[in-house]
Amino acid sequence: MSGRVFVKYFQKQLAIDLLFKSNRNITRNSRLLTAASNPELKTPDTMTTNNTNETTYTYDQAVIKGRNADHSIHPLILSRTSPREMTGQLLSDGELMTLFEAARWAPSFYNQQPWRFAYAKRNTDNYAKFESLVWPLNLQWCREASALVVVASHKLFYMKGDNTKELPNPTHSFDAGAACMALALEANARDLVVHCMAGFDYQKAYEVFGVDQQRYNIDCMIAIGRRPEPNLRPHEPRVSPRNALNTFVSEGSFRPVPVQRNESKIEEIQDRYSKT
Ligand SMILES: Cc1cc2nc3c(=O)[nH]c(=O)nc-3n(C[C@H](O)[C@H](O)[C@H](O)COP(=O)(O)O)c2cc1C
Repeated sequence: MSGRVFVKYFQKQLAIDLLFKSNRNITRNSRLLTAASNPELKTPDTMTTNNTNETTYTYDQAVIKGRNADHSIHPLILSRTSPREMTGQLLSDGELMTLFEAARWAPSFYNQQPWRFAYAKRNTDNYAKFESLVWPLNLQWCREASALVVVASHKLFYMKGDNTKELPNPTHSFDAGAACMALALEANARDLVVHCMAGFDYQKAYEVFGVDQQRYNIDCMIAIGRRPEPNLRPHEPRVSPRNALNTFVSEGSFRPVPVQRNESKIEEIQDRYSKT
């Protein structure tokens, strides 16, 4: 085979391979968009983890379509939602730790990494303790979670080289929130559910875990789960709206335009919550 013929043959084989691969993705998951099939996305669709496993990240195209971003942003961010549908199937320890790994790399004040996560897998003795904290309204949808997490943050920090003086950390919850967002983004791209919850008994959580309120703040709970196959999900995904940019961003000082309250949207949201 001459060089030119070989190159043509190789290109043809590559095209067939790509077609086969994208067809397989489409049949398996018609409502999800892999990065490879989005020509606008410049990031690679696969990433090597642990030097052995290949992970394909996916972004829910139905969510992206339902959200009108004024400026083009990464589909990882735009496609993240807090779904409520979970299958109750377990997550492996590796899958869970991968999510906490994402949280680990969040930024924090003075690199204090004040976030703390306590988790329970649904098939373990600890689970009932975690589940008992969740308000009934939330329990209705997170009964099928694979794991429940309580997020806390360390309220104090030490100056480098001086372990004697404890100072208040002004951003402990902010940093824990950043860690939760990293966790949520990783989960979303792996088509897993991460749903934060403030609807739980905080006081009971302090008691159940024996958390010293002088030193730690309990910030939120998270339900983590496996999403149903795309064809078993509600036809329209839950796509929450957002305020306009000029209601929370202004140049030079805080001069935000008041939020225009869209009554029909508010009713829609109230309706949605009352059905939970
Ligand atoms: C700290 C925090 C607490 C939340 N608490 C609850 C909750 O108790 N119950 C619930 O259904 N959703 C809860 N949510 C989810 C929000 O309602 C959701 O993030 C918001 O409506 C935006 O939707 P999205 O995450 O799908 O973009 C919470 C989210 C955060 C960040």
